[in-house]
Amino acid sequence: MTFEEQLAGIFPHEKDVPAEYWLKELHQKEFLINGEICIWKGPQQEVFSPICLQGENGISPRILGSYPLLTAREALEALDSARKAYDNGCGEWPTMTVEKRIQCIESFAQRMKTKRDEVVNLLMWEICKNYTDACKEFDRTVDYINDTVNALKDLDRVSSRFIIEQGIIGQIRRAPLGVVLCMGPFNYPLNETFTTLIPALIMGNTTIFKPAKFGTLLFQPLLTAFQESFPKGVVNTLYGEGPVVIPPLMTSGQIDVFAFIGSAKVANLLEKQHPKPNRLRRVLGLGAKNPAIILADADMELTVNECLLGTLSYNGQRCTALKILFVQNAIIDTFLGKYCEAVSRLKMGLPWETGVQITPLPESNKTEHMLELIQDAVSKGAKVINPNGSKSNRTIMVPAVVYPVSETMQLYNVEQFGPVVPIVPFENIETPIRYIINSSVGQQASIFGKNSDMLGKLIDPLVNQVCRLNINSQCQRGPDSFPFTGKKDSAEGTLSISDALRAFSIRTLVAAKAEPTNKEILTRIVQERKSNFLNTDYIL
Ligand code: G3H
Repeated sequence: MTFEEQLAGIFPHEKDVPAEYWLKELHQKEFLINGEICIWKGPQQEVFSPICLQGENGISPRILGSYPLLTAREALEALDSARKAYDNGCGEWPTMTVEKRIQCIESFAQRMKTKRDEVVNLLMWEICKNYTDACKEFDRTVDYINDTVNALKDLDRVSSRFIIEQGIIGQIRRAPLGVVLCMGPFNYPLNETFTTLIPALIMGNTTIFKPAKFGTLLFQPLLTAFQESFPKGVVNTLYGEGPVVIPPLMTSGQIDVFAFIGSAKVANLLEKQHPKPNRLRRVLGLGAKNPAIILADADMELTVNECLLGTLSYNGQRCTALKILFVQNAIIDTFLGKYCEAVSRLKMGLPWETGVQITPLPESNKTEHMLELIQDAVSKGAKVINPNGSKSNRTIMVPAVVYPVSETMQLYNVEQFGPVVPIVPFENIETPIRYIINSSVGQQASIFGKNSDMLGKLIDPLVNQVCRLNINSQCQRGPDSFPFTGKKDSAEGTLSISDALRAFSIRTLVAAKAEPTNKEILTRIVQERKSNFLNTDYIL
């Protein structure tokens, strides 16, 4: 039996899937617009799992179900619904007290928690995130919601008083921006969609969200929770092909905030469709090619462990993944040996199996694309240096460690977003520094070493190239209270629990000259609770 045939053995027979993880086909017809769960009678998009099943006729992709292929008409209905709910800022939601909005979000979080098992199982079947990471994604999202509520309380407490400056009384708060379109990525379909959706909602905006291209069905169990937790029209869901349902929204000129996590190419294409670019606020998380610089004095064991996590967690499909390793010549052989050994210990298999780290890939033709990148590097002098590296069967692929990679190869600059690890040897530290300076992206970088003089010297030039420099640790987004952003083509705007509240709102104030009549008017408004904006309530 060839190794490729052994790989195919990873795909189970239906009877071998543990009963608790078996998923009945889910043919979703529902979508939420204007507070109603509508039933779609038109064409459906079939959803296949990256997990194939063995059957009488060999191995074939497992169908998971389907979702509605909505059209421009439903997209415009969703827009109309969100606009009506916003009502030029006069709607129930944008004028609601912060306390009441918080109650709605909290009630959503409660309902969401009851759907944990269903969503986790869908995360495994739809995008092949392993069980531990799928649970983490769900729990991290619930924590994110709770932390967002607390951050808003803090923000609101600071704004709950009047300021008197140069004879003017003012109360400064944050107000919503309008209708927000949220689109998340397939690798964190729940978490990253909610890291924009939740702050957008809690700040009083109304929303339309379109699930990612994979990881779509997992929102189905949450539709009722959205419907029951928010006033009608505040959350609208859009299903279908991006090129069909998104352009009508953008060309209408009625989207106020475009929150998108995905490729720069798609973001640019969609932004350009908006006829009033100055009106459109953008919150974008785009591409990255985070490098690690491994210096000669790095702690070998720690570095190998961190680089393994950084390069290959979730098969390298994280925007924050380490996508290229620069290793100093003096330790290159030791590093390659230990790193390849660690890669070969990674367990490949199905997401619910204990300890599995390498799982099937959701994007169609992904293994082919990875092989093209590897082939390009090999044709220019690199080799796949780990045992069985790059061998694949259908959607599953053994990670490939490619060495030595140089600047003529596509792997040097292209964001592979998959299980391929390019390694570049270097002598002079200028090599990785020039790489980072010349890169078109600038999200994060990692440096591994022990000499504080050297590390200190590297910090100053590098923090002006990337937005997070990780010392002796892999790149990552968390903790979610830390700012997550990027320079150049990597991002626009900053996300973190507290920064996101700012990204989806604008400082707005009510001001009056501090004259007796005005003072009396303001006092009355506050005492008689005549305004939700102008108030001195302190949320506990
Ligand atoms: O894909 C990008 C994610 O935001 C990465 O998050 O670093 O916590 O895996 P993570």
